[in-house]
Amino acid sequence: MEKQAMKFLITAGPTREPLDPVRFLSNRSTGKMGFALAYAAVQAGHEVTLIAGPVTLESPEGVRRVDVETALEMLSAVEKNLPDADVYISCAAVADWRPATYSPVKLKKSGMDGELRLVRNPDILKTIRPQKGNRIFVGFAAETGMPEAEAKRKMLEKGLDFIVANDVTMPGAGFATDTNCVTLLFPNGEKSFLTLRSKLEIAKEIVSRIERLR
Ligand code: PMT
Repeated sequence: MEKQAMKFLITAGPTREPLDPVRFLSNRSTGKMGFALAYAAVQAGHEVTLIAGPVTLESPEGVRRVDVETALEMLSAVEKNLPDADVYISCAAVADWRPATYSPVKLKKSGMDGELRLVRNPDILKTIRPQKGNRIFVGFAAETGMPEAEAKRKMLEKGLDFIVANDVTMPGAGFATDTNCVTLLFPNGEKSFLTLRSKLEIAKEIVSRIERLR
């Protein structure tokens, strides 16, 4: 049977939450896993829109890229591009909080009292869940040890077709590495452990599981 090309929407990298023009909150994501997914999907013949947080990676050829900085910008880019997508892969490490206020001028050390007030960012997957329809939604769960229980909770809470549980404390896995080691968890209890291999090999396996869901 001939494979059907699909439209993939993928988020990658961190978000950056500015406090003032020189300082921000962020995390260790480099975008490598998300960019590998974009590359694997294009190589498999799919159309890809990649929403990237601030990263230093080159776009894979053939990918349409949208650059964003903050979680709010990422949410709005996802909402804008979702109607045209068949598949949404949420690989970005979206900052869960942002500073409650932004100062347009550099904050003076002397004016800071040592406390930083934060507000919650929206959860992108939960926000767009009502628009899922028959789209395939895949999430990641970055955990520090024993990722499965927490990943399963997130998969059910966010209404995902499957989740990629990523123990970021394992050597060679998680943030900034060229390799990864993950477990794919499905709502029917099925699971598939992908031993340490390149992020591209992991990405190819994820894309192929998505193709089989269609
Ligand atoms: O970029 P690399 O350096 O290659 O690192 C890859 C990675 C470790 C970032 C990647 O493999 C990974 O695990 N990505 C998910 C990171 C994460 O934010 O996980 P989480 O458990 O906090 O979030 C669960 C899911 O909800 C994720 O699909 C996330 O994209 C999504 N989410 C989280 C917060 C938020 N406000 N909105 C969301 O949609």
